[in-house]
Amino acid sequence: MRVSVLGLGYVGCVSAACLASQGHEVIGVDVNQAKVDLVNEGKAPVVEERIGELTAEVVRTGALRATVDVGEAVLGSEVSLVCVGTPSEPNGSLCTTYLERVAEQIGAALAEKDGRHTVVFRSTMLPGTCMNLLVPILEKYAGTAGVDFGVAVNPEFLREGTSVRDFFDPPKTVIGELDPASGETVAALYDGLPGEVFRVPVPTAEAIKYADNAFHGLKIGFANELGAVCQALGVDSHQVMDVFLADRKLNISPAYLRPGFAFGGSCLPKDLRSLVHAAQRADIAVPILANVLTSNTAHLQRAVELVERTGKRRVGLFGLSFKPGTDDLRESPLVELAERLFGKGYDLKIYDANVSLSRLMGANREYIENRLPHLAQLLADSVDEVLEHAEVCLVGTRDPAVLSALPHGEAPVLVDLIRLPDAEARRTESGYVGLAW
Ligand SMILES: NC(=O)c1ccc[n+]([C@@H]2O[C@H](COP(=O)([O-])OP(=O)(O)OC[C@H]3O[C@@H](n4cnc5c(N)ncnc54)[C@H](O)[C@@H]3O)[C@@H](O)[C@H]2O)c1
Repeated sequence: MRVSVLGLGYVGCVSAACLASQGHEVIGVDVNQAKVDLVNEGKAPVVEERIGELTAEVVRTGALRATVDVGEAVLGSEVSLVCVGTPSEPNGSLCTTYLERVAEQIGAALAEKDGRHTVVFRSTMLPGTCMNLLVPILEKYAGTAGVDFGVAVNPEFLREGTSVRDFFDPPKTVIGELDPASGETVAALYDGLPGEVFRVPVPTAEAIKYADNAFHGLKIGFANELGAVCQALGVDSHQVMDVFLADRKLNISPAYLRPGFAFGGSCLPKDLRSLVHAAQRADIAVPILANVLTSNTAHLQRAVELVERTGKRRVGLFGLSFKPGTDDLRESPLVELAERLFGKGYDLKIYDANVSLSRLMGANREYIENRLPHLAQLLADSVDEVLEHAEVCLVGTRDPAVLSALPHGEAPVLVDLIRLPDAEARRTESGYVGLAW
């Protein structure tokens, strides 16, 4: 394919040279004449493993050349990869100035061009930036996106330092496509490269890059905080992490990584509190660990706000124990939620099969009657009793008896705390509100 690459920084240089080495005909563009000159001399404007040799090779064979003229590059290609910078503004917001400028330039060139052209954004940008900011700029000049020209978002996951190696062995390829033809064009660019290809809506592709980078930062911060606490407690943190990392069921796994309801139970809150306390006693600052419970409380509050926003007063709650299959109520987030709603004067009825059973059998009766007498009187004996009472129903359990009884339609309003198995279908119903979208 004939490809123009706009922005010859780290991402653009590597994309341009690697695509050229894969048999594409590439024109690199930068506003910086010095970078353009360097590329045309066969030299890479960035320092990266293998990029020097690769650039020399593809410039020598004529597969890569560079220019300062966006118009010339767009007219001479079928696909444009936008790799301009998106730095932070002083207040932390994302600077989209370079993206907007380059969209204007591409749009102006497309107005002169026949044949389909696809604009692919590789720069990191917040969800909505492409569709709400950049597509309207392009459409000002070049007709309708998805009809007269293609648009896709193809975030870059390569690590500086090893990005050439990563290009040929990527962790994944993500293609956010406005229309299938745009997605096909991007997929064709990377034809033959390994790794799974994900074709998703444009805003999803934009968000995936943030999910990845936020998680990477969180992981490093977590490891360093844990290491500092271990060190203060005289424990070899690397030995701890060797074993931590070997657990592929609960630690390095998809476990606990799906948005849902808040956590609780007899272990996580207690153990986080004591670990943070030990760190504080050792004068070790652990802001990530110290704020995990704060984050959890904020999430629980979002559920309260969803109920408040319905404006209804008669509330049903399905689920009370801290997770399915147990009657353990200690530090259950659903107990906390029930207490908040009860404290705000909502007329509440609660159903949890395990808790009812345990109350009947006397197993947890003492705990319920002594510690939660105010909630004990709200416990219903059946799913129907709650449904008949409620104008708004919170669903915090996957108990099949509850799921099969949940009505469709406007009343009662369902507040889904756990992303119900049929959430996708219910999403468009007027009486459905989801906490975990
Ligand atoms: N550096 C990385 O490892 C990395 C990894 C993944 C994603 N990203 C993202 O990719 C984007 C680019 O990052 P980078 O590190 O390559 O940036 P960079 O600052 O190194 O390079 C951007 C280049 O774009 C050029 N440019 C600006 N406006 C232009 C225009 N109108 N026309 C042509 N060229 C123009 C600049 O002169 C500069 O050379 C950013 O959104 C970044 O967040 C970077």
